[in-house]
Amino acid sequence: MKTIELTAGVYWVGVYDHELRVFDELYPTQSGTTYNSYLVKGGGKTVLVDTAEEHFFTEFLSRVNSVCAVDDIDIIISNHTEHDHSGSIARLLEMNPKIEVYCTKAAEKFLQQQMNRSFNSHSIKDGETLDLGGRTLQFIVAPYLHWPDTMFTYLQEDQLLFSCDAFGAHYCPQEGQIFCDEINGDVQADLKLYFDTIVRPFKKNVREAIAKLADIPVKMICPSHGPVRRQDIEQTVQDYQLWSQQPQPTQGRRVLLLEHSPHGTVRKMGDRVTHALQARGCTVIRLSAIELDDQQFQHELERCDALMIGVATINRDAGPPVWKALALLSTVTVKNKLAAVYGAYGWSGEAVKLIQGRLLGLRYKLAGEGVRWQFTPTQDDIDHCLQLANDLADLLHAS
Ligand code: FEO
Repeated sequence: MKTIELTAGVYWVGVYDHELRVFDELYPTQSGTTYNSYLVKGGGKTVLVDTAEEHFFTEFLSRVNSVCAVDDIDIIISNHTEHDHSGSIARLLEMNPKIEVYCTKAAEKFLQQQMNRSFNSHSIKDGETLDLGGRTLQFIVAPYLHWPDTMFTYLQEDQLLFSCDAFGAHYCPQEGQIFCDEINGDVQADLKLYFDTIVRPFKKNVREAIAKLADIPVKMICPSHGPVRRQDIEQTVQDYQLWSQQPQPTQGRRVLLLEHSPHGTVRKMGDRVTHALQARGCTVIRLSAIELDDQQFQHELERCDALMIGVATINRDAGPPVWKALALLSTVTVKNKLAAVYGAYGWSGEAVKLIQGRLLGLRYKLAGEGVRWQFTPTQDDIDHCLQLANDLADLLHAS
């Protein structure tokens, strides 16, 4: 098993996973991924930065052992405790219980719950440093990249940033390769796909983390997935800055209206609601659940000030196109969690309450009671819907 020396005394000791096509059984990969782990030798201490998925422990251990024995590892830095990075910690601690695990407070708790055993640990403070003997590690807390437990580790003298999931890509180079500039392939598309699928829900945290890096010179970005970058560092950070930008301010209050209208009455009510909102100075973006372009819907969720949903009850439920759309709510940084729901039904009418429950579960604030009507709406039903639209507009103008 070949290790790769990134700079004197710093080694990539990770694992290639060429076969993986769906990461976490959620996110697509084009060419597999790597689980990057780095071994840093100081004059007094030897440190392992993150580990690898336990499934690959034999291969991982072989790489570690080609640089040092597990008995010689003093510290494991756990930048993030998702299994693909923390999965081998328990096995290493079994082999050498003296190893101390450095991580954030949240990570310490997560590791405790994952391993269900006591272990030597040190929960770091933001900015804290660790002297390895001629080499200094600095810890930079960067929560939600991509769990609450996350941090970066920075090797000051060599200007290496161990960024864990941030700046990562599910890309698996050929055996023996790890530097981006040595790879004959386009990693950029995988970097963007990784951002969109893993990091996009946490744009504000990305902006905050990048701000912390402003005064830190970086010669090499060493993420936990995919290639290590020693070129185009500034461009890579700028890409993340661009992708995590705050939405542009909108003219008027922008309302995203998602509609599912199997029999037409929901859409007709949508016409009335749209006019009412426009009369209150709102811009209304209407999207049909059955023709939904996922990317457009995600984009509007990030731009709009409120989400309104018009649904129909089908077999005691909302229709599958609506649920499919709602599955996208947690994949983006929603601008504002304000919502309202109305809908039609024939004889039972559960859809409005079910959708409201889903929104409340995602911590949306509802503008008012949901409105529902049976078959053709009466004037009262119409008035209630228009009142709901006005209540939503009131909240938007008050905010
Ligand atoms: Fe690569 Fe969030 O784990």
